[in-house]
Amino acid sequence: MKALVTFFSLTGNTEKVARAIYDAITIEKKIAPVQELQTAAGYDIIFCGFPVQAHSVPGKVHAFLKNIPDRQNIAFFCTHGSLRGGQLPKQAIEQAIGLVTKAKVLGDFGCRGKVDQQILDALMKRPEHKVWVEEAQSADGHPDEADLTDAKEFASRIISKIL
Ligand SMILES: Cc1cc2nc3c(=O)[nH]c(=O)nc-3n(C[C@H](O)[C@H](O)[C@H](O)COP(=O)(O)O)c2cc1C
Repeated sequence: MKALVTFFSLTGNTEKVARAIYDAITIEKKIAPVQELQTAAGYDIIFCGFPVQAHSVPGKVHAFLKNIPDRQNIAFFCTHGSLRGGQLPKQAIEQAIGLVTKAKVLGDFGCRGKVDQQILDALMKRPEHKVWVEEAQSADGHPDEADLTDAKEFASRIISKIL
């Protein structure tokens, strides 16, 4: 049994969650950024993580998901500036699931991630983004220890499904 944890991360939030997931995995495992992987083949489970960008899956992850083998077990995780449990991050996870229709999706996990100040400053200048920026500012400090504990529990739950 072998697990792959792969991720895309611009500012390190998703990578922190990826490393927590990796730490919680009890079978043979590998961790690598999505852009460094040659192939997605040869794993019993793939954990694939990304930051929500413009309510969507980032392009590099999109490209990786197109090459997922048929019947592959996969679980998604993401970080986002929006509040946890909100509709927009859910939309990005649903988009990811829609990209792997022949795979077997075993679960998903999301938590908040501090949004880069330059992004917040730029969006703040646009009145239509003001409400979102105000919400996103409170993601400061995430992912925190509680988020990482939740991510580890998620990983254990997914692994137990394939054992
Ligand atoms: C270009 C860009 C677009 C973003 N768009 C969204 C978004 O639509 N919704 C959201 O909740 N967060 C959004 N964020 C915030 C990131 O999802 C969040 O900060 C995430 O934790 C970043 O993860 P990373 O450090 O792994 O890149 C955006 C961030 C960037 C840089």
